[in-house]
Amino acid sequence: MRKEPDTAPEVFLSLDQLSGEIAHEINNPLGIIVQEIEWIQHLLKSDTLTECREAEDLKDSVREIEAQVQRCKVIVQRLLSLARQIEPVLQAVNVNALAEKLIALVSIEAREKNISIQNRLKPDLPVVYTDPPLVRQVLLHLLVNAVQAIERDGIITVTTSATPDGFAEVAVEDNGCGIPQQNLEKIFTPFFTTKPEGKGTGLGLVTCRKIIERLGGRISVQSEMGKCTMFTVRLPLTGQVDKEDFHDVEQTKSADSRR
Ligand SMILES: Nc1ncnc2c1ncn2[C@@H]1O[C@H](COP(=O)(O)OP(=O)(O)O)[C@@H](O)[C@H]1O
Ligand SMILES: [Mg+2]
Repeated sequence: MRKEPDTAPEVFLSLDQLSGEIAHEINNPLGIIVQEIEWIQHLLKSDTLTECREAEDLKDSVREIEAQVQRCKVIVQRLLSLARQIEPVLQAVNVNALAEKLIALVSIEAREKNISIQNRLKPDLPVVYTDPPLVRQVLLHLLVNAVQAIERDGIITVTTSATPDGFAEVAVEDNGCGIPQQNLEKIFTPFFTTKPEGKGTGLGLVTCRKIIERLGGRISVQSEMGKCTMFTVRLPLTGQVDKEDFHDVEQTKSADSRR
């Protein structure tokens, strides 16, 4: 009797990996399209073509193609960063100081929209062993989402605290549009966005979740429609990283070295 092999011969790619592969494949043709657009724009400046009646229409058309290609490039870049294996470099981090710097950065744009960002930072917050650029990327995204949810005139509050079971928490709360109950699950899935075309890609929160889980933490959300939304990021003080993801990293490395 024939015995089935114990392990399947195919390597199944996760959604992240698959979208990364696709993004990578699309990146090259997009680069060529950009070069061709530049060439057409150059040709359109030549005397014979400038005299042509349809030259202006052609130029408009090419400009539109250029804008849409740029949009594709942004999506491709986000997909690539989503698929990239994250290898945290842990160090002692003063999360309050990190949060303060981000608040100062986002406040510049927020002030123009009459949005104030307040902080309630726990003074004696313990040091957190984590990866500062990754945590920065997540908190910045949560702040940008909060500003977008308010649009104009509102308040964002950033709170830090320590939990008795060894975690630091950072909460970003806004009094913006809120999230309907039926969307609370969907917001962490790739490409889910309620923002107008060209404004949202729906890749922000899925990336935030991937990063935080990789750092051994959790991200959660609470919201009341039309009133407020609060995202809470929970990070282990001791900087444990997700072991399963380490396994992924090793697999990807060996797969890469076979190419
Ligand atoms: N602070 C918030 N308030 C209300 N809705 C939010 C907030 N943050 C995220 N969302 C919802 O979650 C969706 C997904 O967010 P995200 O993954 O960052 O993608 P994007 O910002 O590109 O739409 C948003 O389109 C929005 O509907
Ligand atoms: Mg976003």
